Amino acid sequence: MSSIVIQNLRKEFGHFTAIDGLNLQVAKGDFCVFLGPSGCGKTTTLNCIAGLEEVTSGKIFIGDRDVTDLPPHERDIAMVFQSSLLYPHLSAKKNIMTSVIHSKDKADVVQQRFENAVRILEINHLLDKKPSEMSGGERQRIAMAKVIVRNPVCFLMDEPLAALDASLRQSLRTELTRLQKDLGVTTVFVTHDQVEAMTMGDKIMVMNKGKLEQYGTPLEIYENPKSKFVAGFVGSPKMNFFPGELERKGDEFVFNGSGYSISLESLKWERTGGDFTGIRSMGIRPENMRISSEEGPNTLAMKVYNVENLGKESVVILVRDERQYRIIVSAETKVQIDEILDISIDGKFAHFFHEA
Ligand SMILES: Nc1ncnc2c1ncn2[C@@H]1O[C@H](COP(=O)(O)OP(=O)(O)OP(=O)(O)O)[C@@H](O)[C@H]1O
Ligand SMILES: [Mg+2]
Repeated sequence: MSSIVIQNLRKEFGHFTAIDGLNLQVAKGDFCVFLGPSGCGKTTTLNCIAGLEEVTSGKIFIGDRDVTDLPPHERDIAMVFQSSLLYPHLSAKKNIMTSVIHSKDKADVVQQRFENAVRILEINHLLDKKPSEMSGGERQRIAMAKVIVRNPVCFLMDEPLAALDASLRQSLRTELTRLQKDLGVTTVFVTHDQVEAMTMGDKIMVMNKGKLEQYGTPLEIYENPKSKFVAGFVGSPKMNFFPGELERKGDEFVFNGSGYSISLESLKWERTGGDFTGIRSMGIRPENMRISSEEGPNTLAMKVYNVENLGKESVVILVRDERQYRIIVSAETKVQIDEILDISIDGKFAHFFHEA
């Protein structure tokens, strides 16, 4: 197991800058998730760590070794892609074993890792099949087994669960993080799925347009997003944003939106960042907004646009000034489309941003 350090990484494709001065330190044994929208540079960064892309400038260390100019096979890493390549003429078992042909480990140690992988990934019934005789999800599990058997110093995984159905994805999510904890192998896992990132990562690097937006534990990122981009990207349903300005009236804070003022009773001074000049947007998570039984200084009238029932709870989609907002209510709460509701906001959990 090794740490991974990225220093000032820059990657250009012609005139296009895909990675723009990235610095990152993945601690030994951590499960680190790269999270961000399509095209933000997750795969490119991973490929630079793996040695599949040459860096334009910057350095990459795996453990104490500067691997920036080493070819992939000298980096002691194992990669899993969204659709991994298997040898078509070999059985699943032989495919798995191709990864340990050059291994210096003892046969019984390799056999133990093989049996472990077969058990965890539930692939016993697939071992004699050829890739063409398996489904996409089954082939993906064989590809995972290949890297587990190899026991490298780092796992690099690029959306390995994306092609699987929802139930298999959920169970592999659990198995993969458990396995990673057992093996203690430093892992970088790429996804654009924030639920996957939140549930799997020890740390998450949120990326946007080739840059690091925030690096922290899932909880830090959820509770203390450093930018509006991070706030809007992490959390489901998404955080609600109210355009407007924050004002202090005596001991109280008031948020002034277009055509309304709402009092934020429990808001603490520290949450505003001290200086709140230049705040142009307030963010409130869906769970911090409630239907109020009466109109008041901390309520806002909103119209019900639609309701999505999730079983144990429902998401109510509200509109005000042509903007949509989402709140979570219990499944028993009955609301009608087009009904006007008084919504109270818990100021204690408000986030403020300089971006509109
Ligand atoms: N070989 C290449 N030549 C030119 N541009 C490239 C090349 N590879 C990637 N890019 C560009 O670099 C940017 C980052 O691509 P990358 O594949 O790293 O994104 P990603 O975050 O992995 O996205 P996705 O979630 O869609 O997989 C994209 O705008 C992409 O078009
Ligand atoms: Mg990608």
